[in-house]
Amino acid sequence: MGTITLINNETGEKFDFDLINCTRGPKAVDFSKLFERANIFSYDPGYGSTAGCESTISYIDGKNGQLLYKGIPVEEIVEKYKFTDVAKLLITGEAPKNEQESKEFDLELRHRAFLHEGLINIFSAFPDGGHPMANLSSAVAALSTFHFDHKEMDDEEDYQTMARRIIAKITTLVAFSYRNSIGAPLIYPDVSRSYVENFLYMLRAYPGGRLKYTLKGEEEISALEVEALDKIFTLHADHGQNASTTTVRNVASTGVHPYAAISAGINALWGPAHGGANEKVLVQLEQIGDVKNVDKFVAKAKDKSDSFRLMGFGHRVYKSYDPRAKAIKALKDELNKKGITMNARLSEIAEKLEEVALNDDYFKERNLYPNVDFYSGIILTALKIPVQLFTPMFVIGRMPGWCAQVMEHIKNPHARITRPRQVYLGK
Ligand SMILES: CC(C)(COP(=O)(O)OP(=O)(O)OC[C@H]1O[C@@H](n2cnc3c(N)ncnc32)[C@H](O)[C@@H]1OP(=O)(O)O)[C@@H](O)C(=O)NCCC(=O)NCCS
Repeated sequence: MGTITLINNETGEKFDFDLINCTRGPKAVDFSKLFERANIFSYDPGYGSTAGCESTISYIDGKNGQLLYKGIPVEEIVEKYKFTDVAKLLITGEAPKNEQESKEFDLELRHRAFLHEGLINIFSAFPDGGHPMANLSSAVAALSTFHFDHKEMDDEEDYQTMARRIIAKITTLVAFSYRNSIGAPLIYPDVSRSYVENFLYMLRAYPGGRLKYTLKGEEEISALEVEALDKIFTLHADHGQNASTTTVRNVASTGVHPYAAISAGINALWGPAHGGANEKVLVQLEQIGDVKNVDKFVAKAKDKSDSFRLMGFGHRVYKSYDPRAKAIKALKDELNKKGITMNARLSEIAEKLEEVALNDDYFKERNLYPNVDFYSGIILTALKIPVQLFTPMFVIGRMPGWCAQVMEHIKNPHARITRPRQVYLGK
């Protein structure tokens, strides 16, 4: 094992610290005993250079634009697996071995999608027009009281029940929180439909379970729509120690119910610097309005006296093209060809924005590329998902990742409560 020497130039004291060999990526220096040994803290606001945990779930190579789930490149994952397969991969470490196992897991989730009737009452307490993310985080926190047994988990079966339950129920919670927010009656899960199709059904159906009726008959949910949404969920399934995942782990580190920790993660995801960016991207594309205004908005984003930022651009870790953005852009073009028509005006503005930004020195010098949120909203709009549901879509996609991360954290006997220090500058 290598070491690194820290020299205090004020006192001349020297301290050796072990280097940890990660299986991929740069080494990490073990500073856990820095304070004990050297009586100094490390200072890293935003944790840009700090690893807060060990993990085996997902790996990001920001320089080369690579993302792996359990060692498999996300480009391969999205072609090979359904979202529910990916969920199984993340929470158990193994994807379904064959079609039968894949169907059985999907079916298990469908049967777990129902909510306790008592929990459903919570939605009527929220005002019409409330943001679904607020309703959702409250409902997920409340879910912990309905499944309180997950507070203490003794064996793998307990962990799996906890994870599968919330992965299954999150689709129902999203659909219910949205329908409640617009005053529409709730549509219960239909177990005959697959996980992703059932979600679209709960969003779209009319009382009685019928889909929109047109002169051509009932507007069925198409296999292409299901496949598109499935891929979007898959591309959001896990992403290292981002702000919401870190929040989930930090809150879990105090020993709370895992659903309380996940509820906190939902709140962290809501912010526009994180998952809330997908909603803001669409709002911004509408604000730009026309391809001829792109240059003006790019100039605004570069103006340091203006707080305006191009939403869907930039990333703490990716310093090259986000592989998820690449896959989502390709999906947009593919769907367009296959008959799910994108909004041409918004699509054109987005592509022009990307082209101008990628050729502009400001963006080049700062390695600002489109991220996962840049093109996803255009596809979600084409799938008739309302804009206020974009961030809840991210919640559904990220749920297997949060579950895997919270399990990894709780199971680690060396995990400690998160308790950073501060650089005190007060009186
Ligand atoms: C994602 C994000 C929060 C990363 O933040 P970060 O790692 O802390 O990076 P910083 O905020 O320090 O940005 C570095 C530089 O790039 C600039 N920058 C970053 N993102 C920018 C954007 N979207 N538009 C314009 N400038 C941007 C910053 O102003 C800063 O410039 P400076 O060095 O001249 O001060 C940031 O890029 C952002 O706000 N993006 C828009 C929101 C978004 O799409 N979020 C979803 C992420 S998946």
